[in-house]
Amino acid sequence: KPVIFSGIQPTGQPHLGNYLGAISNWVALQEQAHAAQETLLFSIVDLHAITLPQDPAKLRKERREMAITLLACGIDPEKCILFEQSRVSGHSELAWILNCMTPVSWLARMTQWKSKMNVTKGIETLDDVNATTGLQLGLFAYPVLMAADVLLYKATKIPVGEDQIQHLELARDISVTFNKTVKQRFFPPPRAIITETKRVMSLRDHTKKMSKSDPSDQTRINLVDSPDTILSKIKRATTDSIRGISYDREERPAVANLVEIYAAMKKVSVADVVQEHADSTNAVFKEALADVLITSLRPIQEEMSRLQKEDAFVQAVLDKGASRASEIAKPNLEEIQKLVGLR
Ligand code: TYM
Repeated sequence: KPVIFSGIQPTGQPHLGNYLGAISNWVALQEQAHAAQETLLFSIVDLHAITLPQDPAKLRKERREMAITLLACGIDPEKCILFEQSRVSGHSELAWILNCMTPVSWLARMTQWKSKMNVTKGIETLDDVNATTGLQLGLFAYPVLMAADVLLYKATKIPVGEDQIQHLELARDISVTFNKTVKQRFFPPPRAIITETKRVMSLRDHTKKMSKSDPSDQTRINLVDSPDTILSKIKRATTDSIRGISYDREERPAVANLVEIYAAMKKVSVADVVQEHADSTNAVFKEALADVLITSLRPIQEEMSRLQKEDAFVQAVLDKGASRASEIAKPNLEEIQKLVGLR
């Protein structure tokens, strides 16, 4: 039976991009997969978080906050396994084995470490990588740990946003290399599952994705934003001077982004939104969008405040998640260790 795996970093405020690109898809898959008795694993990837410097106390708090957020968004611990990555040691152990099979040149091509190091151009070769000051080995090897995450459970369905596709292609290449090395089809190929809102863009710059790491909070809607904050951010979002609301990704990218957000949050089609707002001014459309966001985020926010007071419950979910994930990981890791001569 197929195994579904995905992860989210606990650092920073989760935003609409995380929600529409990943979390809401996880919740949708959860219902189908549970009925089909497939295994679903959702991980709070704290080992990935420490590829950038973190304050220990803050990271501890954020791991718990992320668990609360995911539960509030509808992740149901009866239907899936919700756990913290660092509590299943197989992730690190498999990552090391895969590190030993992954050419550095494959990692040099990845775009994420370049963007995190603010290197946008000019780094193409290993010499360039060597010349880059301050790049930590962990950040460079980040995608190998991600490959280990999915391969540890032989997961094949990976629901992610568009920015993770390059990493999953690498995971597939690593799985092929492993299979060749051990001369058997041990790992099935992991594949990305993408939503319609695979790339939610910044509210201020339609060429950039909505991101936790953008210095301006005005560029994103956080799941915890108050109604006033949502209204003010949406009112100030970039649009264009064309009359009425239409959907054209090429000609009207900023408006198209807002239309997609509206449709996804209201669970209607883009065509429905365009039909309803064909004659709306930008101002009227923005008020309606803010209203949709406020209404759809309210139950999530209420559930978050409720869970804040349920410390023991949240802890129990994470404990149970870690032990269930370990149970699946253990025999797989043992087989892998045997195959490479470690047992
Ligand atoms: P992270 O924590 O950056 O983001 C979590 C998920 O949110 C998606 N996402 C978006 N989707 C659409 N539009 C956006 N603007 C947007 N911003 C973020 C991401 O694509 C992701 O699906 N490396 C991963 C975590 C990870 C993982 C894994 C994922 C670790 N191991 C194994 C899948 C499988 C990350 O940093 O996601």
